[in-house]
Amino acid sequence: MEFIITETYDQMSRAAADAIAAKVRSCPDCTLGLATGSTPIGTYACLVADHKDGTLDFSDVTTFNLDEYAGLAPEHRQSYRYFMNDNLFDHVNIDKARTHVPNGANADADAVCNGYEQAIWDNGGIDLQLLGLGHNGHIGFNEPADAFPVGTHAVQLTESTINANSRLFDSIDDVPRSAYTMGIGTIMGAREVLVVVSGADKADIVAKAFCGPVVPQVPASVLQLHPACTVICDAEAASKLPR
Ligand code: F6R
Repeated sequence: MEFIITETYDQMSRAAADAIAAKVRSCPDCTLGLATGSTPIGTYACLVADHKDGTLDFSDVTTFNLDEYAGLAPEHRQSYRYFMNDNLFDHVNIDKARTHVPNGANADADAVCNGYEQAIWDNGGIDLQLLGLGHNGHIGFNEPADAFPVGTHAVQLTESTINANSRLFDSIDDVPRSAYTMGIGTIMGAREVLVVVSGADKADIVAKAFCGPVVPQVPASVLQLHPACTVICDAEAASKLPR
């Protein structure tokens, strides 16, 4: 596991975007795994800027997002499909037909999850997976549990995640209670993983996940076992890492 510690959020974003851009330039038809949430917004802004500068071409890139709320249609402003269009896909020359987000509008969880997992592997797997980190150590919507879930599956969200995500909804009652997410096995199957983490409120979980024991109660801890995982933190998020 490699750590890159930057002073600021903007530098963290630039470093993550540089890693993604390098992958796309060296492998123009690569498959990126993407995340939503607040943390990668700056990374996506940097990628859009690179594209507008004429230095980054997404025309042959395929993407698979980590997760989606169950019950939200793609047009819903809080859906992760909407987020991805708004923050990245609508601003670069990616072929939308190659962008994949689990279909939250389909209530048939088995059909959505099995089809999504199959599509990832039929496509040859993920070359570079971008992740954020939840306060409770979740990655994607893989919440603390007694075992690491393997493939894409439906989950009930924990109170901690519902509370954290309620900032984006009119009321906490509007936050969906379940979601579809890649499993830990899906994420660990990516050839490279890039985790972005920002802010003092993430300092405890950064230290616990990346320097503590590997346990399913801290899902991100499993990334310590990934052969090519880079964590890019700003100074605040890194402040409790052992020196
Ligand atoms: C989003 C996702 C989540 C977030 C995590 C951190 O697709 O998979 O695991 O990465 O909740 O969210 P932020 O960045 O908002 O702190």
